[in-house]
Amino acid sequence: MRTKMIAGNWKMHHRPQEARAFVEELGRVLWARNELYGPLKEGVAEAVLFPTALSLAAVQDALGDLPVSLGAQNAHWEDHGAFTGEIGAPMLADFGCAYILIGHSERRHLFHETEVELARKLRAVLSTSARCLFCVGELLEEREAGKTHQVLERQLLGALEGVTIPDLTDRFAVAYEPVWAIGTGKTASDGDAEEGCGYIRHLVADRYGQETAQHLQVLYGGSVKPGNTAGLMVQGDIDGLLVGGASLEVPSFVGILEAAL
Ligand code: G3H
Repeated sequence: MRTKMIAGNWKMHHRPQEARAFVEELGRVLWARNELYGPLKEGVAEAVLFPTALSLAAVQDALGDLPVSLGAQNAHWEDHGAFTGEIGAPMLADFGCAYILIGHSERRHLFHETEVELARKLRAVLSTSARCLFCVGELLEEREAGKTHQVLERQLLGALEGVTIPDLTDRFAVAYEPVWAIGTGKTASDGDAEEGCGYIRHLVADRYGQETAQHLQVLYGGSVKPGNTAGLMVQGDIDGLLVGGASLEVPSFVGILEAAL
C-alpha cells in the first residue's frame, strides 16, 4: 500500500507574509477536520508544500507540528562552492526540507537544465536526508510525434543511472507532468495520466524489478483542481498529485485534499 501524496508547488508565488497566512489558514482547517488531519497525522497520506526559498522559513515556522512536510523547489548539484544564487541540497535538508523537487519542466525548458545536470542534482539530493520528487514529462510536439514513451524513458532512466534500489524505494518519488497540461487548464484525461504513470512504473519494473516498482510513488501533475482530483486518484498507478495553481489558495488546496483522501 503506497502512501498518497498531495504536493503544492507554489513556484514563484507567495511572499513570506502570504506564505505564513496560507499555512495558518490551512492549519485552522486541518485542526478542525479530523477526516483530513487524521490520514496526514497517521501517515496514510502526506501533504507537502514547496514555497520559494525565501518563504521556506515562514512556512516552517507557521507549520509548527502540523502534519505537513516542507519541500524546496530546486537545489544545486554541489554541496557548496562559488555558485552565486544557488543553494546546496545539504543546506536545504539541514534546514528541514523533507523533499526537494528536481527536474520540473520549468527548470528543464525555461532554465535549460540538462539531463546530465538533473542527474547530478538527483544524486546530490539522495546524498542528504531529504527525498527527491523528480519530474518528467513530454512536450506537446513530442506527444503528437508519438514520442511520449521515449521521452519518459530517457528522462527517467537516464537520471536513475547508478541509483540503488533502497534509495529508489525510500528516498525517491516521480511526478509525471505532461508539459502541455501544466498551467494550461488542459488536464490530461484520467486515462492519459494513468497511462503515463503506469509506463513510468513499467520502466522501473523492467530495470529494477516488480517489487521496487510496486513501492515507487508516482504522482500526476498538470492543471489539477478539486473537480478532477477524485477521477485521477482512483487510477491504480497514480499515488498522488503535484499541484501548481490550485495549491496557491487554501480553499482549492483543501478541496484537493478532500477529494484525494
Ligand atoms: O508543479 C506543478 C505543475 O507544474 C502543475 O502546475 O497545476 O498550475 O498546472 P498547474
